[in-house]
Amino acid sequence: MKLLHSVLVAATVIAAAPASAQFAKPEDAILYRQSAFVLMGNHMGRINGQLKADSPNVDAIRNSAAVIEAASKLPYEGFIAGTETGGARATRVKAEYFKDAAKVKNLAEKMQSEVSKLAAAAKGGDVAAIRAQFGETGKSCKSCHDDFRKD
Ligand code: HEC
Repeated sequence: MKLLHSVLVAATVIAAAPASAQFAKPEDAILYRQSAFVLMGNHMGRINGQLKADSPNVDAIRNSAAVIEAASKLPYEGFIAGTETGGARATRVKAEYFKDAAKVKNLAEKMQSEVSKLAAAAKGGDVAAIRAQFGETGKSCKSCHDDFRKD
């Protein structure tokens, strides 16, 4: 019984560990969030390329939209204290990001909702609907970059 109790306590401690415990060093957290954004940017670019093609490959768009949807949930964990500056690849985050959690959450949720709609439109397969939703998704990325990313 005592052993079981210790195991349960240990499990609870692990589950409650702060996000910072996932990263050995601050630059690992920066690289983690940048990596998620790189995936998102790369696959937005691929969708853009398909939408410019004479006959867009809807399967490829669907795959890219699914990658963006999955990756869009990841970056936030990497914005831990101590990562306002620095990074193996210098971070471009603005200091304001760490001071206005409500605004960040709002912009992140807006982007999340547009990305989900993009994935849904891609599943539907209507190229005009995908194109319209791609534009809305891009705007939701840009509005956060305008406020919280340098350049
Ligand atoms: C909630 C705010 C927010 C939203 C929404 C957002 N970004 Fe970003 N993005 C950032 C910040 C902050 C950085 C800088 C991260 C760093 O350097 O530490 C960034 C960086 C990037 C980078 C550069 C990554 C690198 O290091 O090379 C790309 C590409 C990118 N975002 C794409 C996207 C795309 C595509 C979307 C929409 C699908 C998006 N972002 C939505 C805040 C956001």
